[in-house]
Amino acid sequence: MTRDYSRRLYEKSVGLMPGGVSSPIRAFEPHPSFISRGEGGVICDVDGNDLIDLCLGYGPLILGHGHPAVFDSLMRQANQGMLFGAPSVPELELVEKLVKRVPCAEMVRLANSGTEATMHAIRLARAYTGREKVVKMSGGFHGAHDSMLVKPGSAAMDLCIPGSPGVPAATVQSTILAEYNDLDMMSDILEEHEVAAVIMEPVMGNAGTILPEDGYLQGVRRLTEEYGTILIFDEVITGLRLAPGGAQEYYGVTPDLCTMGKAIGGGLPAGAVLGGKEIMSMVSPAGPVYMAGTFSGNPMTAAAGNAVMNLLDADVYRSLGDKGAELASTLRDIIEDLGITGCVNQVGSMLQLFLGMERVENAQQASKCDAMMFKSLASDLLDRGVYIPPSQYETCFLCTEHHRSHLSRVSESFHESLKEVSRSV
Ligand SMILES: Cc1ncc(COP(=O)(O)O)c(C=O)c1O
Repeated sequence: MTRDYSRRLYEKSVGLMPGGVSSPIRAFEPHPSFISRGEGGVICDVDGNDLIDLCLGYGPLILGHGHPAVFDSLMRQANQGMLFGAPSVPELELVEKLVKRVPCAEMVRLANSGTEATMHAIRLARAYTGREKVVKMSGGFHGAHDSMLVKPGSAAMDLCIPGSPGVPAATVQSTILAEYNDLDMMSDILEEHEVAAVIMEPVMGNAGTILPEDGYLQGVRRLTEEYGTILIFDEVITGLRLAPGGAQEYYGVTPDLCTMGKAIGGGLPAGAVLGGKEIMSMVSPAGPVYMAGTFSGNPMTAAAGNAVMNLLDADVYRSLGDKGAELASTLRDIIEDLGITGCVNQVGSMLQLFLGMERVENAQQASKCDAMMFKSLASDLLDRGVYIPPSQYETCFLCTEHHRSHLSRVSESFHESLKEVSRSV
């Protein structure tokens, strides 16, 4: 497989864009692939190589690339206008759909990214409680705004960056770290501090895929209620992905607020803060908590999101879950056959293979995995036509357009690649 054109484009981009990319997770040794188009579950790079895509734009594309219903909806909207700076019908439809599906949602404020959504949700929780401190999970990622850049997951975990220069010390002093799946620790923190909000991914997706132990989410819900703390589920990944109502529906635990993004925009930039009427009524202009955006609730994003939601029914989630479970089971068999220490965490269409650890239940355990071997694996898989997020600390995703033939090729490629990389360790 040649990737010469990608290499040449990368050489040009490093002089023009920091690290040659627009977001750090896209960096890839020796250079990233430039993608020219996508169709269904497959993308094609500028050198003409077809790649089965288990990255799917880091999650949003639950229907795969270029779904005709999404495309038609976008074209219809583009013909009518792309931005009005005034309310529009597609925006109202999107919000109605979210309120119908998401258990915690009686009202919604739309935004443009997951980062914006979590920033707004934290401000709202602070205003509502009159408190300042916020608890986040070590390895949890909630976007790149100041108060959340404390031991973040995703690219920062990969680069071993515990925070970021440029973030005021006073800002992070009000952020407290907890370990996921540790209820005793959560209880101690809430006992010791007056906490405005606990913000957490109900399933961690930015330290690899890490699932809640039985009773953990219920326990966090109980404790936050007890201490008058707002529970924010960051469902930027899990929203629409695990169930129509996200992880809160899947696990039966309703937070006070949730944030969404990714899939609700059908492939266009999206974000949302969702919650009950009492707290959401504090959002401007109904209340004093300021949230605003030129592109918030824009009709193009709403048109794409509406088209996606129209197609997501119980059968789709069942089928995605079956495919996820099947692939996870195959990967477990492969590492067992090859005698490789590792484990596979999976829920619905989210999964990750962890190398070097037999169990991964929090970010601390994830950080002990063999991240270098994982990078070699991602690189070898790319050579075989399978594109996964090139980091141990991300999640692989499946879409409706991944068919049996794709999944067999993915399994065969994992088998060959794991054989190859374990030989060279
Ligand atoms: C759980 C979670 N929250 C927030 C964000 C930030 O979203 P965005 O990249 O749209 O700003 C991400 C991005 O990956 C995420 O995974």
